Amino acid sequence: MKVLVAYASRHGATKGIAERVAQTLERRGLAVTLEQADRVRQAETYDAFVVGGCAYMFHWARECTAFVRRNEHALAGRPTWLFSSGPLGTDLVDEKGRDVMVTTRPKEFDELAERVHPRDQRIFFGAWDPGAKPVGLMERFVGLMPAAKNAMPAGDFRDWPAIEAWAEGIVSELRMQAVTAAS
Ligand SMILES: Cc1cc2nc3c(=O)[nH]c(=O)nc-3n(C[C@H](O)[C@H](O)[C@H](O)COP(=O)(O)O)c2cc1C
Repeated sequence: MKVLVAYASRHGATKGIAERVAQTLERRGLAVTLEQADRVRQAETYDAFVVGGCAYMFHWARECTAFVRRNEHALAGRPTWLFSSGPLGTDLVDEKGRDVMVTTRPKEFDELAERVHPRDQRIFFGAWDPGAKPVGLMERFVGLMPAAKNAMPAGDFRDWPAIEAWAEGIVSELRMQAVTAAS
Protein backbone atom coordinates (compact mmCIF):
# COMPACT_ATOMS: atom_id res chain seq x y z
CA MET A 1 0.00 0.00 0.00
CA LYS A 2 1.41 3.38 -1.05
CA VAL A 3 0.78 6.21 1.39
CA LEU A 4 1.46 9.87 0.68
CA VAL A 5 2.26 12.16 3.60
CA ALA A 6 1.90 15.68 2.19
CA TYR A 7 2.70 18.69 4.35
CA ALA A 8 3.24 22.44 4.46
CA SER A 9 5.39 24.08 7.11
CA ARG A 10 6.67 27.63 7.51
CA HIS A 11 9.19 27.16 10.28
CA GLY A 12 9.69 23.41 10.41
CA ALA A 13 7.43 22.32 13.29
CA THR A 14 4.81 20.77 11.00
CA LYS A 15 7.48 19.22 8.82
CA GLY A 16 8.81 17.48 11.95
CA ILE A 17 5.36 16.08 12.72
CA ALA A 18 4.91 14.91 9.12
CA GLU A 19 8.32 13.22 9.26
CA ARG A 20 7.44 11.41 12.47
CA VAL A 21 4.12 10.22 11.02
CA ALA A 22 5.90 9.03 7.87
CA GLN A 23 8.60 7.22 9.88
CA THR A 24 5.98 5.48 12.01
CA LEU A 25 4.05 4.28 8.96
CA GLU A 26 7.25 3.16 7.26
CA ARG A 27 8.44 1.25 10.32
CA ARG A 28 5.18 -0.69 10.20
CA GLY A 29 5.79 -1.79 6.61
CA LEU A 30 3.93 0.77 4.52
CA ALA A 31 5.47 2.34 1.42
CA VAL A 32 5.54 6.02 2.30
CA THR A 33 6.31 9.13 0.27
CA LEU A 34 6.87 12.33 2.24
CA GLU A 35 6.43 15.41 0.07
CA GLN A 36 5.65 19.11 0.32
CA ALA A 37 2.00 19.53 -0.58
CA ASP A 38 2.70 22.02 -3.36
CA ARG A 39 5.21 19.68 -4.99
CA VAL A 40 3.08 16.56 -5.24
CA ARG A 41 2.46 15.27 -8.72
CA GLN A 42 0.04 12.48 -9.63
CA ALA A 43 -1.68 12.16 -6.29
CA GLU A 44 -4.02 9.60 -7.81
CA THR A 45 -1.19 7.03 -7.81
CA TYR A 46 -1.36 6.70 -3.99
CA ASP A 47 -3.66 4.42 -1.99
CA ALA A 48 -4.01 6.60 1.12
CA PHE A 49 -3.22 10.15 2.21
CA VAL A 50 -2.11 12.03 5.29
CA VAL A 51 -2.16 15.81 4.79
CA GLY A 52 -0.72 18.09 7.47
CA GLY A 53 -0.28 21.83 7.58
CA CYS A 54 0.61 24.59 10.00
CA ALA A 55 -2.14 26.93 11.20
CA TYR A 56 -1.69 30.68 11.24
CA MET A 57 -4.36 33.27 12.10
CA PHE A 58 -7.04 30.54 12.20
CA HIS A 59 -6.23 29.33 8.68
CA TRP A 60 -4.63 26.07 7.55
CA ALA A 61 -1.55 26.30 5.32
CA ARG A 62 -2.83 27.38 1.94
CA GLU A 63 -0.63 24.82 0.14
CA CYS A 64 -2.50 22.04 1.98
CA THR A 65 -5.91 23.56 1.32
CA ALA A 66 -5.04 23.89 -2.37
CA PHE A 67 -3.72 20.31 -2.46
CA VAL A 68 -6.91 18.89 -0.99
CA ARG A 69 -9.14 20.93 -3.30
CA ARG A 70 -7.05 20.09 -6.36
CA ASN A 71 -7.06 16.37 -5.59
CA GLU A 72 -10.53 16.16 -4.13
CA HIS A 73 -11.54 13.22 -6.28
CA ALA A 74 -8.52 11.07 -5.41
CA LEU A 75 -8.71 11.86 -1.69
CA ALA A 76 -12.46 11.36 -1.40
CA GLY A 77 -12.15 7.87 -2.89
CA ARG A 78 -9.33 6.70 -0.61
CA PRO A 79 -8.58 6.75 3.13
CA THR A 80 -7.47 10.26 4.06
CA TRP A 81 -6.35 11.87 7.31
CA LEU A 82 -5.84 15.58 7.94
CA PHE A 83 -3.83 17.22 10.68
CA SER A 84 -3.04 20.74 11.70
CA SER A 85 -0.14 21.86 13.85
CA GLY A 86 -1.37 24.84 15.72
CA PRO A 87 -1.93 25.69 19.32
CA LEU A 88 1.06 26.72 21.39
CA GLY A 89 1.48 25.80 25.04
CA THR A 90 0.01 22.79 26.78
CA ASP A 91 -3.35 24.10 28.03
CA LEU A 92 -6.33 22.14 26.74
CA VAL A 93 -8.75 24.96 27.58
CA ASP A 94 -8.28 28.68 26.99
CA GLU A 95 -8.85 31.54 29.43
CA LYS A 96 -12.57 31.50 28.58
CA GLY A 97 -12.85 27.79 29.31
CA ARG A 98 -13.15 26.79 25.65
CA ASP A 99 -11.64 23.60 24.25
CA VAL A 100 -8.39 24.63 22.52
CA MET A 101 -8.70 21.76 20.04
CA VAL A 102 -12.00 23.27 18.91
CA THR A 103 -11.01 26.95 18.87
CA THR A 104 -7.82 26.27 16.89
CA ARG A 105 -9.46 24.03 14.32
CA PRO A 106 -8.58 25.68 10.99
CA LYS A 107 -11.46 27.50 9.31
CA GLU A 108 -11.00 25.40 6.16
CA PHE A 109 -11.60 22.04 7.85
CA ASP A 110 -15.41 22.06 7.54
CA GLU A 111 -15.25 22.67 3.80
CA LEU A 112 -12.45 20.15 3.26
CA ALA A 113 -14.14 17.49 5.39
CA GLU A 114 -17.25 17.94 3.27
CA ARG A 115 -15.17 17.42 0.14
CA VAL A 116 -13.03 14.41 1.09
CA HIS A 117 -14.63 12.85 4.23
CA PRO A 118 -11.36 12.27 6.11
CA ARG A 119 -11.08 9.41 8.60
CA ASP A 120 -9.87 11.97 11.15
CA GLN A 121 -8.99 15.65 11.43
CA ARG A 122 -6.45 16.03 14.17
CA ILE A 123 -5.00 19.11 15.85
CA PHE A 124 -1.51 18.77 17.34
CA PHE A 125 0.28 21.24 19.56
CA GLY A 126 2.99 23.02 17.58
CA ALA A 127 6.21 24.91 18.18
CA TRP A 128 7.31 28.50 17.95
CA ASP A 129 10.69 30.14 18.29
CA PRO A 130 10.22 33.92 18.73
CA GLY A 131 13.83 34.39 17.59
CA ALA A 132 13.21 32.81 14.19
CA LYS A 133 13.32 35.02 11.12
CA PRO A 134 9.74 36.13 10.40
CA VAL A 135 8.08 34.76 7.27
CA GLY A 136 5.59 37.09 5.60
CA LEU A 137 4.02 40.39 6.55
CA MET A 138 1.86 39.08 9.36
CA GLU A 139 4.79 37.62 11.26
CA ARG A 140 6.81 40.78 10.76
CA PHE A 141 3.87 42.74 12.13
CA VAL A 142 3.60 40.47 15.19
CA GLY A 143 7.35 40.82 15.70
CA LEU A 144 6.93 44.58 15.93
CA MET A 145 4.23 44.29 18.59
CA PRO A 146 5.82 43.13 21.86
CA ALA A 147 2.41 42.68 23.51
CA ALA A 148 1.29 40.20 20.83
CA LYS A 149 4.65 38.47 20.75
CA ASN A 150 4.82 38.06 24.52
CA ALA A 151 1.25 36.77 24.68
CA MET A 152 2.19 33.65 22.68
CA PRO A 153 3.89 30.78 24.49
CA ALA A 154 7.34 30.15 23.05
CA GLY A 155 8.80 26.67 22.78
CA ASP A 156 8.32 23.24 21.31
CA PHE A 157 5.02 21.75 22.47
CA ARG A 158 4.79 18.92 19.98
CA ASP A 159 3.45 15.82 21.72
CA TRP A 160 5.48 13.02 20.16
CA PRO A 161 3.71 10.12 21.92
CA ALA A 162 0.34 11.52 20.75
CA ILE A 163 1.68 11.95 17.20
CA GLU A 164 3.05 8.39 17.11
CA ALA A 165 -0.15 6.95 18.60
CA TRP A 166 -2.16 8.74 15.91
CA ALA A 167 0.09 7.32 13.20
CA GLU A 168 -0.24 3.83 14.73
CA GLY A 169 -4.01 4.25 14.51
CA ILE A 170 -3.65 4.98 10.80
CA VAL A 171 -1.60 1.79 10.37
CA SER A 172 -4.30 -0.25 12.14
CA GLU A 173 -7.08 1.20 10.00
CA LEU A 174 -5.19 0.59 6.77
CA ARG A 175 -4.37 -2.99 7.79
CA MET A 176 -7.99 -3.65 8.69
CA GLN A 177 -9.08 -2.26 5.34
CA ALA A 178 -6.55 -4.47 3.49
CA VAL A 179 -7.82 -7.58 5.32
CA THR A 180 -11.47 -6.70 4.57
CA ALA A 181 -10.66 -6.07 0.91
CA ALA A 182 -8.87 -9.44 0.60
CA SER A 183 -11.66 -11.49 2.19
C1 LIG B 1 1.95 34.92 14.29
C2 LIG B 1 1.46 33.54 14.63
C3 LIG B 1 0.13 33.21 14.45
C4 LIG B 1 -0.34 31.94 14.78
N1 LIG B 1 -1.66 31.66 14.61
C5 LIG B 1 -2.13 30.43 14.98
C6 LIG B 1 -3.52 30.11 14.83
O1 LIG B 1 -4.33 30.90 14.38
N2 LIG B 1 -3.92 28.88 15.22
C7 LIG B 1 -3.06 27.95 15.72
O2 LIG B 1 -3.48 26.87 16.08
N3 LIG B 1 -1.72 28.24 15.85
C8 LIG B 1 -1.26 29.44 15.49
N4 LIG B 1 0.08 29.73 15.59
C9 LIG B 1 0.99 28.69 16.04
C10 LIG B 1 1.64 27.97 14.86
O3 LIG B 1 0.66 27.35 14.08
C11 LIG B 1 2.60 26.90 15.39
O4 LIG B 1 3.69 27.59 15.85
C12 LIG B 1 2.95 25.86 14.33
O5 LIG B 1 3.43 24.69 14.95
C13 LIG B 1 4.00 26.39 13.36
O6 LIG B 1 4.28 25.41 12.38
P1 LIG B 1 5.49 25.57 11.34
O7 LIG B 1 6.78 25.65 12.14
O8 LIG B 1 5.41 24.34 10.54
O9 LIG B 1 5.25 26.81 10.56
C14 LIG B 1 0.56 30.98 15.28
C15 LIG B 1 1.91 31.31 15.43
C16 LIG B 1 2.37 32.56 15.11
C17 LIG B 1 3.83 32.87 15.27
